[in-house]
Amino acid sequence: GKTLVVTGVASGIGNEVARLARFHGARVIGVDRHPVDMTLDAFHQADLSDPQAIDALIAALPARLDGLANIAGVPGTADPALVARVNYLGLRHLSQALLPRLTGGSVVNVASILGAAWAERLAAHRALADTPDFAAGEQWLTANPVPAESCYQYFKEALIVWSARCSRPWFASHDVRVNCVAPGPVFTPILDDFVTMLGPDRVAADAAKMKRPAFADEVAEGIVFLLSDAARWINGVNLPIDGGLAATAL
Ligand code: NAI
Repeated sequence: GKTLVVTGVASGIGNEVARLARFHGARVIGVDRHPVDMTLDAFHQADLSDPQAIDALIAALPARLDGLANIAGVPGTADPALVARVNYLGLRHLSQALLPRLTGGSVVNVASILGAAWAERLAAHRALADTPDFAAGEQWLTANPVPAESCYQYFKEALIVWSARCSRPWFASHDVRVNCVAPGPVFTPILDDFVTMLGPDRVAADAAKMKRPAFADEVAEGIVFLLSDAARWINGVNLPIDGGLAATAL
């Protein structure tokens, strides 16, 4: 079986990815800031907003890995600096450090349907993607501040752009695939925060287009697929898992 690192494993989508991957025979090493209430092959409690905590985690992980699912995330109701750190800078730091251990494997990042407007700020997202590390990224963001009310969208867009841009050199030099998934609304504890973030009107409008939000296991299926060898020629994509919500805009 494969050895996978799954972040955000204590709740929602991460929890379901761990369950499904273990069902398929993978060895799952879970990571979360909160303790986890399920059977895992290993678990590391770590704050993925803190580069030092991430370095300690990296030191504790095995020398060989087959996959990394970056699922931990915070909503836009959180402090924008925290959104930047968890949803982008910390995720990138962890991925870059684990890259040499992942040869032949795969990284899946959880973006969002709310990152769909990435092309509108492509120059900024490229510039941020080109910063070499956590500290430089944070410095760049101090010089190029992000509006607090759209910080969640901004860092999901940035994640989509960074993933796509790194998929090619990573694939070439380390034989690692890098993909995103973009869920629409999912029944997890974060969903209430999106109502606060976007306003009840937007959430009601989305709900009217779809019969229901996704269940976390429906999103997990797509992530586990992208981590598997069945997806061996899928690289650099952003896969919507939204029941067709994004397509309703066309
Ligand atoms: P959730 O709130 O159920 O799970 C998020 C997990 O990330 C929690 O277990 C939390 O403890 C962990 N986490 C947060 N900050 C952390 C930190 N600093 N260090 C370590 N762990 C941390 O939410 P859900 O829905 O499972 O979210 C997973 C991902 O899916 C997130 O990236 C979210 O932005 C994304 N997403 C969720 C959607 C939804 O409607 N639920 C829609 C689109 C994307």
